[in-house]
Amino acid sequence: MQNRNSGAARFRHIAAGWAASAALIALTALGAGLAGAPAAHAQAESQPEPLKIGIIGTGRIGGALARYWAEAGHEVLMSSRHPEELQGLADELGPRARAGTPREAAAFGDVVLVSVPYAAVPQVGRDYAEELEGKIVLDTSNPIERRDGEMAVEAQRKGAGIASSEFMPGTRIVRAFNCIPAETLAREANREPERLGIPLGGDDAEALEVAQRLVRDAGFDPVVIGSLERSRVFDLGQPLADATGRASAAELRALAEELD
Ligand SMILES: NC(=O)c1ccc[n+]([C@@H]2O[C@H](COP(=O)([O-])OP(=O)(O)OC[C@H]3O[C@@H](n4cnc5c(N)ncnc54)[C@H](OP(=O)(O)O)[C@@H]3O)[C@@H](O)[C@H]2O)c1
Repeated sequence: MQNRNSGAARFRHIAAGWAASAALIALTALGAGLAGAPAAHAQAESQPEPLKIGIIGTGRIGGALARYWAEAGHEVLMSSRHPEELQGLADELGPRARAGTPREAAAFGDVVLVSVPYAAVPQVGRDYAEELEGKIVLDTSNPIERRDGEMAVEAQRKGAGIASSEFMPGTRIVRAFNCIPAETLAREANREPERLGIPLGGDDAEALEVAQRLVRDAGFDPVVIGSLERSRVFDLGQPLADATGRASAAELRALAEELD
């Protein structure tokens, strides 16, 4: 319970910070316009507080996101069941990144990325329930029968968003980065002339706000598709998932509207 309360208080603070920053930007921009001062000043004043991000599953997806988020100024604790194997990456990413165990990552993050083979999601939800309680969880994990076995079939039937919320009860899940191919994620951040879109789905408004920020900080454009239930429209194999990795945010939005 302590986690939920302290997490909520911290995010209220962060959300308030954003609102204050927006007001400050508006006022400073107005002042800058009148006085002819550089608008860059407003930007410098508006940096939101960095987040503490725990990463469970630092593979192709988790590793790429750890890099982007550390570069964006967030603090990341990357985890492995063999944390010593991540030390090289932690050294490369610098003082904002370190390596630890999955439990340490779950405890560390205000936001926790869960990016593991789907068959491991129930165990992650069970073993780190206390550390994850009340936290924002970005879930990239996809149920795939040939890799994850029979449990994947049931998760696909329910929709991965609903299945994950059952495996990690008490968390604030956002489905994110689940349908961009790992090579595209690693190569196409800040794509020119237009960033790639990343579909998001979740039931918690604050969690969706934070997820959108972290998608932007990774160099992509967020597209909120709707609830966890609705996130099934970008489960693997769905048209919206197939388009992700090639489409801009506007293109994904248009495709989602066609589904309505
Ligand atoms: N690859 C893609 O193109 C792609 C794209 C979007 C989404 N996804 C989905 O995102 C998830 C991760 O994909 P990935 O390609 O990044 O996989 P990956 O490269 O195989 O990495 C998965 C990581 O999960 C960790 N892990 C496995 N079991 C664990 C457990 N019980 N507890 C804690 N950590 C565990 C492993 O770390 P240790 O062995 O070091 O502990 C491993 O580094 C999958 O569900 C996948 O379907 C993949």
